[in-house]
Amino acid sequence: MSSIKEGHILIIGSGLIGRSWAMVFASGGYHVKLYDIMEQQITTAMENIGKQMEELDKSGMLRGSLSIQLQVSLISGCTDLKSAVEGATYIQECTPENLELKKKLFAQLDLLASEKAVIGSSTSCLSPTKLFTGLKHVKQCIVAHPVNPPYYVPLVELVPHPKTDPATVEKTYALMKEIGQCPVKLMREIDGFALNRLQYAIISEAWRLIQAGVISPTDLDLVMSEGLGMRYAFMGPFETAHLNAEGFKSYCERYGEGIKRVVQAFGPVPEFSGDVEQKIDQALCENIPADSDHLNTRREWRDTCLSHLAKLKKEMKSN
Ligand code: NAI
Repeated sequence: MSSIKEGHILIIGSGLIGRSWAMVFASGGYHVKLYDIMEQQITTAMENIGKQMEELDKSGMLRGSLSIQLQVSLISGCTDLKSAVEGATYIQECTPENLELKKKLFAQLDLLASEKAVIGSSTSCLSPTKLFTGLKHVKQCIVAHPVNPPYYVPLVELVPHPKTDPATVEKTYALMKEIGQCPVKLMREIDGFALNRLQYAIISEAWRLIQAGVISPTDLDLVMSEGLGMRYAFMGPFETAHLNAEGFKSYCERYGEGIKRVVQAFGPVPEFSGDVEQKIDQALCENIPADSDHLNTRREWRDTCLSHLAKLKKEMKSN
C-alpha cells in the first residue's frame, strides 16, 4: 500500500508527541526530519523510536506496510531549523504548550517556510488566533491537534485560523487520511476544541457525583471503562442513540424530556481542588501509586490495550 513519498515532513520538538508523530508519518512512507533545540533530546528520541518500533514489530503491531528497517531509516534527527524547513511539504510543531515559545517559533518559520508548506500545530488548548495572527503565511497555518499517543489513537482535530486557506484544511485532511489518522474538521475555533469540551463535561459530572457521595471514584471509572466506553470505542453518542431506539428521532421523542430534566439538575462548575481531589487521588494511588515507575508501567499497559483495540477496530471496520 505505502511506498516512499516525495519531499519530507518536519517535526519540531522531539518529546512525547513529536516522537509519535514521527513514527506515524514514517509508517505512511514519508521521510521525516525530527528537529529539536536540544541535541541530547534528539538522541534520546531516536533511541526511543527505534526501541518502540522493534517492540511493535515483534508483536505484529507496526503500522503501515513498509518493513521496520525502512521505517526506521526514514526518520532522521536535525538541529538546524533552516535546512530542516527547506523542502518540507508539511511541518508539525510539537513544542511545549507555551504561547510565547510557540509564537517565537512560528515567527521563525514564517521567515523560512515556502509558499507551499502547510504548518500544523499540535497544541492542545491554544487557539489558532493566538498562535498565527499576524503571520505572513497565516493562510498555510492550521491546528492539527492529536490525541496522546497519536500512534495508537488516530483522531486529529483540524482547527483553522479565520484566515486559513480552505485548501490548507483540505491538504491537511487528505494527508492525515493518507497516513492512517482520522481527521475531523472544526468549522471555527472554540476554546477546548471538540474533544476536550466533551472530556471536560464528563470529568465535571464525574467530580460532582463524587462530591455528592453518590458513587466511589473506583466505581465511577468503571462506569466509563466497562459501560459507556465499551460502545464509545466503536460509535459516538449520536449513533448510540440512533441504535438505542427506532432511530434518532424516536430516541429524542422517548428520552428527550428525561435528558433535559437530568441535565438541568447538574450542579455548578467544580473547583477541581480540595476534599474531592484528595478522595479521588487516594483511591487512584491505592492501585497505581503516583511515582514514575508505577505510572510508566500502567502507561505501557494502556498503550498495549490501545494497539490491540486499534487492530480490532480495523478488523471490524464496516465502512
Ligand atoms: P514534551 O515536553 O514531551 O516535548 C517538547 C519538546 O520540544 C522537547 O523535546 C523540547 O526539547 C522541545 N523544544 C522546546 N523548545 C523548542 C523549540 N524552540 N524548538 C524545537 N523544539 C523545542 O511535550 P509534548 O507532551 O510532546 O507536547 C508537545 C505539544 O503537543 C504541546 O503543544 C502539547 O499541548 C501537545 N499535545 C500533547 C499531548 C499530551 O498528552 N502530551 C496530547 C495532544 C497534544
